[in-house]
Amino acid sequence: MRLSVIGCGYLGAVHAAAMASIGHDVVGIDVDANKIEALSNARAPFFEPGLTEILTEGINAGKLRFTTDIAAAAGAAVHFIGVGTPQQRGGDAADLTFVDAAIDALIPHLQPGDVVAGKSTVPVGTAERLAKRIAPTGATLVWNPEFLREGWAVQDTIEPDRLVAGVPSGPDGLRAADILRDVYHPAVASGTPFIVTDYATAELVKVAANAFLATKISFINAMAEIAEVTGADVTQLADAIGHDVRIGRRFLGAGIGFGGGCLPKDIRAFSARAEELGRGESVAFLREVDAINLRRRERAVQMVVDALDGTLFEKKVAVLGAAFKPHSDDIRDSPALDVAVGLKGLGAHVVVTDPAAIDNAARAYPQLSFARDLDEALAGADAVIVVTEWDAYRRDLDPVRAAALVSNPIVVDGRNCLDAVAWRAAGWTYLGMGRP
Ligand code: UDX
Repeated sequence: MRLSVIGCGYLGAVHAAAMASIGHDVVGIDVDANKIEALSNARAPFFEPGLTEILTEGINAGKLRFTTDIAAAAGAAVHFIGVGTPQQRGGDAADLTFVDAAIDALIPHLQPGDVVAGKSTVPVGTAERLAKRIAPTGATLVWNPEFLREGWAVQDTIEPDRLVAGVPSGPDGLRAADILRDVYHPAVASGTPFIVTDYATAELVKVAANAFLATKISFINAMAEIAEVTGADVTQLADAIGHDVRIGRRFLGAGIGFGGGCLPKDIRAFSARAEELGRGESVAFLREVDAINLRRRERAVQMVVDALDGTLFEKKVAVLGAAFKPHSDDIRDSPALDVAVGLKGLGAHVVVTDPAAIDNAARAYPQLSFARDLDEALAGADAVIVVTEWDAYRRDLDPVRAAALVSNPIVVDGRNCLDAVAWRAAGWTYLGMGRP
């Protein structure tokens, strides 16, 4: 099928390449000429495992191209909207400027029978409004939220857990759902659940999923706070409750909490939208989820201060990690960098290292010092804090070797990802979050 993908950021670039990899003829469109240039040369503008490979494959096979010209969308059967919906400046609600601009730009190129598939995360009610806007063209809008995780984006796009299509009632809606089933044929044929529903449900599925995940993380971090005053071990607690299949162990990793381009802004936008709808109290707990999450970053800073007898002045702190999570170079709302900034603000000489995110971090935080080499970051450190659980720190860093590099073997494990026994045996003072 011929497809267009409007917006070639995280979501759109991966979607375009993934759709080409399953056999479609795809054009990716974005207003950012630099991004289009990179993608046209099969260079991923961000770090995402597997993306370069499918970009190269698609471009070489003649199935994938990128352009800044929206007119290239004409003739595609399905137009995916994958532009960003960031948090509004000075507010919690989502900024829909890019979604509105994409729809306005696309409208002159739509033909009767075309399907416009919205993938961006939007406040509930947006699809209905946009559907009215495109109605005169004879195209049909479906809302087809995206659940991809950074670092696993290619796999999540090609083999998703589920597919959701919010469609208007009536024959046009059913026809559009069938077209979308054809687009995702390999996944549908292998049994991936395909849920056809209304616009509001489709929009809410996405924000509800992210709200649930954020709540799960903040729940275990709240337990970590209780563990800290009782001597309990939140990691063992998570293991124990996680054995209950109704609860499950995933997303019960206590530490410095969630960040990134989705969970923080999505729970805030959801709260803002619920308030607009007069149902603020229904999701009032999300404000608490956000507050717990932000508190854990401060707690990690305080743990370093306490470990260094109350002052960071002229102390070198090695910060291992900058990305909001491993397998990503994304630093949007990164807890890791918040911790680094907090330490620096208290007078520490902070040296941040990361396997993928240093360039992005250095651009956004010129006040911090960076070392590409892990050993250089560790050299002479008075304390070490692990803030992103990269394998390079969690699995590959030998605590005996690391102890020989620092001047003071104190490690704060902000992700509870290190082997505490091995680190203690190597002479380290090991401090986990919510762990004795
Ligand atoms: C998330 C959702 O998982 C995805 O379905 C949605 O489409 C977009 O938002 P992503 O932002 O890529 O994906 O990150 P995710 O893997 O969910 O992690 C989010 C944050 O939570 C990271 O900062 C991670 O370190 C943190 N986290 C995750 C924890 O603190 N503890 C955990 O147990 C799991």
